[in-house]
Amino acid sequence: MENRKILLSGIQPSGNLAIANYIGAIKNWLSLQEQYYCIYMVVDLHSLTVRQDPKELKKRCFEFIGQYLACGLDPEKNIIFLQSQVSAHSELAWILNCFTYMGELSRMTQFKEKSTRHGENINAGLFTYPVLMAADILLYQTDLVPVGEDQKQHLEITRDIAIRFNNLYGETFRVPEPFIPEVGARIMSLQDPTKKMSKSDEDPKSYIALLDNPDVIKSKIKRAVTDTGKEIIYNENRPGIANLMTIYSCLTDKSFSKIEEEYQGKGYAEFKAHLGEIIVETLRPVQKKYEVLMKNKDTLYNILKDGAEKASKMAQKTLSKVQKKIGIIQI
Ligand code: TYM
Repeated sequence: MENRKILLSGIQPSGNLAIANYIGAIKNWLSLQEQYYCIYMVVDLHSLTVRQDPKELKKRCFEFIGQYLACGLDPEKNIIFLQSQVSAHSELAWILNCFTYMGELSRMTQFKEKSTRHGENINAGLFTYPVLMAADILLYQTDLVPVGEDQKQHLEITRDIAIRFNNLYGETFRVPEPFIPEVGARIMSLQDPTKKMSKSDEDPKSYIALLDNPDVIKSKIKRAVTDTGKEIIYNENRPGIANLMTIYSCLTDKSFSKIEEEYQGKGYAEFKAHLGEIIVETLRPVQKKYEVLMKNKDTLYNILKDGAEKASKMAQKTLSKVQKKIGIIQI
């Protein structure tokens, strides 16, 4: 790890891990895992900002870790762990809360969106959510954070908090850079292409889950809402077909012009049938590996235990440094 820069990212264990999370985040985690020392979390504490069924939450944490591994994240080369297992995250979050302004937090679009969606439960955690995320990142002296477009604002506030603290107390945190893919940073809902695809959407037809079976995948793509018109041409004013072309491009590495060329004179039905196949074939090895992994819960458990131990050591270093700087007695 000595010479490698540090990469960190995480996903909330809510809903079903979806193709949007794969394209916007996991795919890039995989492509960067040789170059960087990588830290991947399932951020279970963040998911508490929405009411969770305790049994479901536990189950989903294991399932998400299983899917991380099935996608190809390597626990030998990287650290994979559950956020709740490293208490330094909550401890640093409290301290950083005292260096973050209400005004900054009230500008967060995700807070505004979620408080509209969960009007009955606008809790303080939902408001200070970005501060816990800043703690996640800053604890590990992270260089790079690969995320989708929707997390850009949270990365900006993380950088602002780090710079503010460094200015007050001297160099303490590395200021992280976001890594947002040029194509695929915002995959849209299959049922409403003007809305972002979300793994916790109430309508499962709006997303492809990584664990959906092949028939379900093909049918969801076939029924995806497209625009009037029939040509396979990329145009942002035709968000339905543009979204499907984006998914196609990200999974095949073909440019939009190459796809347009291939589908010249062909209609939506043929394009959708092929896209369904491409997704099925991308997910087939993941699903196979997942099935095997989930039969051996002990292995998963050991990976998490080992991950939490390694993460704790790294996190504690930064936490102690911060505590010393602000005048907390170290006994
Ligand atoms: P979460 O769980 O909402 O999403 C996980 C990752 O998937 C990306 N993503 C998308 N990418 C493209 N198109 C979409 N429609 C789409 N929807 C989601 C997200 O950008 C994200 O990269 N706050 C974070 C979790 C988090 C975190 C962190 C991330 C907590 N601490 C520290 C990085 C570093 C979140 O809720 O992601």
